[in-house]
Amino acid sequence: MSTRNQEIVKFSDLDSDIQELIRTAVAYRQKAHCPYSNFQVGAALKCDDDSVFGGCNVENVAYGCTICAERTAVVKAVSEGKKVFKHFAITGDVTDGFISPCGSCRQVIVEFGTDVKVYLAKPDFSDVLVTDMDTILPLPFVPTSIPE
Ligand code: THU
Repeated sequence: MSTRNQEIVKFSDLDSDIQELIRTAVAYRQKAHCPYSNFQVGAALKCDDDSVFGGCNVENVAYGCTICAERTAVVKAVSEGKKVFKHFAITGDVTDGFISPCGSCRQVIVEFGTDVKVYLAKPDFSDVLVTDMDTILPLPFVPTSIPE
């Protein structure tokens, strides 16, 4: 069984590389194309070789075609040949609590592994909810779930 890891940490208490990853997510949030929801989301994904891929939400007038920020970052990483993810920072203007990836994004992230640290960050660099994929998507359906 997976253990639940979630802790609220001050931005300034995080390691400098994680602070930098959150800054990248906040910067990508500014790039959001969200004329329908006016809700900007930014993401930054660090891979096992320390490469970083940012993403924002990209909405569409056909609303169902919208792509979330997290999936933008995943698609950018995978299309550059990077499939081992270490850290995922996500930010959005949630005033009450923390932004958290939607179910579809969680499923897309665990396709490439569940051992991913997740940083749900307020865009004002105050508090960060530090968690991981095992915690936010317990008992996932992953590629190894399918018998050979
Ligand atoms: N959104 C994300 O980018 N990530 C999530 O995990 C949740 C929702 C976007 C989709 C849409 O553009 C806007 O937030 C409002 O739902």
